[in-house]
Amino acid sequence: METTLLSSTPLQLKKLDKSSLFLSSACKFTNRVCLKSNVLSTKVSHFCKKSLKVSASSQAAPATETATASSVPSVMKAWLYDEYGGVEVLKFDSSVSVPEVKDDQVLIKVAAAALNPVDFKRRLGKFKATDSPLPTVPGYDVAGVVVKVGSSVSSLKEGDEVYGNISEFALEGPKQSGSLAEYTAVEERLLALKPKNLSFVEAASLPLAIETAHEGLERSAFSAGKSILVLNGSGGVGTLVIQVAKQVFGASRVAATSSTGKLELLKSLGADLAIDYTKENYEELDEKFDVVYDAIGQGDKSLKVLKEGGTVVALTGAVPTPGFRFVVTSKGSVLTKLNPYLESGKVKPVVDSKGPFPFDKVVEAFSYIETNRATGKVVIAPIP
Ligand SMILES: NC(=O)c1ccc[n+]([C@@H]2O[C@H](COP(=O)([O-])OP(=O)(O)OC[C@H]3O[C@@H](n4cnc5c(N)ncnc54)[C@H](OP(=O)(O)O)[C@@H]3O)[C@@H](O)[C@H]2O)c1
Repeated sequence: METTLLSSTPLQLKKLDKSSLFLSSACKFTNRVCLKSNVLSTKVSHFCKKSLKVSASSQAAPATETATASSVPSVMKAWLYDEYGGVEVLKFDSSVSVPEVKDDQVLIKVAAAALNPVDFKRRLGKFKATDSPLPTVPGYDVAGVVVKVGSSVSSLKEGDEVYGNISEFALEGPKQSGSLAEYTAVEERLLALKPKNLSFVEAASLPLAIETAHEGLERSAFSAGKSILVLNGSGGVGTLVIQVAKQVFGASRVAATSSTGKLELLKSLGADLAIDYTKENYEELDEKFDVVYDAIGQGDKSLKVLKEGGTVVALTGAVPTPGFRFVVTSKGSVLTKLNPYLESGKVKPVVDSKGPFPFDKVVEAFSYIETNRATGKVVIAPIP
């Protein structure tokens, strides 16, 4: 089993060395952000043309430069696509306009970003009807440093290390200029201060998935003493549902499904019962649960293991009765609420050990998450 928990606690496993290396370089991203790029192209990209934000004054930047409000460049490196399709539509562009900061937003120098299934489903055009216009810089999850603040921002300042899911509504008009870029502009209310014990890689792995885990539990009125079955306990969301159900909501019993090689991970996260879906049919269990959290799309089968009065939370696939499906809303306040659990190590980020993928390997990172075999989160770092 390849994936390991990334954390500064004893649960840190074989990825420690690599993670620590990144951590020490990431520590430079405090008040002053080091930019590795030394030349910012003056080429006018198709993105710039279409967004009509072409900088007339892009200049070569020195090899090492600090990003502050006064020194933010006008163009940046980013991944983008200007048509829907497979990974082949992804393009690297070194002259994308740095997004402008609205009154309620901050500009983040991105240190790490993470992928979610919504990133590739969106790129495939599944949410075309409600998507923002093309071209798109993908990416919802971010961790980085504030380099500029809008005029009405009150709780964040330049130099703050923050993390968050940058699009309030994942499917309804998500941001055109996402986190797979050197800079991204985000509303203050969608962000929280990065937990002090976590690296940027670890922090970037959390926002969308942990907000989804929390919102699903809250919407199902989950509470202390209740039991839960998590379908897909090893994915980005499931690894956090197991932990948040137990550590934050006080679950009396947590069961979860995965394939054989990931059962130990489920137990290490706090699952009392780890079910190998390649060998057992969870729907034939005698045991019943107050809540089934379906992160795979098996809402119909899950009704068989539901207690009377229980409910199914579905993230994808059929909407079961009794049960519901919802789409996560990004809220910085949820991250702030969960920060003590992250800082105490009660809830730990799980980062897939195939990553972090460096910025020039974004296509490989997308290809990997699209296999539906990732364990925990697929993170992109460092970002130039
Ligand atoms: N509605 C929302 O707001 C919302 C928010 C977030 C995510 N989602 C959706 O929820 C789903 C899960 O998201 P995610 O980020 O957790 O995905 P993910 O990380 O990509 O999930 C990958 C995991 O799925 C497991 N898996 C594959 N087939 C399985 C099966 N039959 N039973 C149990 N586990 C299985 C894999 O484990 P094995 O290798 O062991 O098979 C792998 O570890 C996606 O469809 C996503 O789009 C919706």
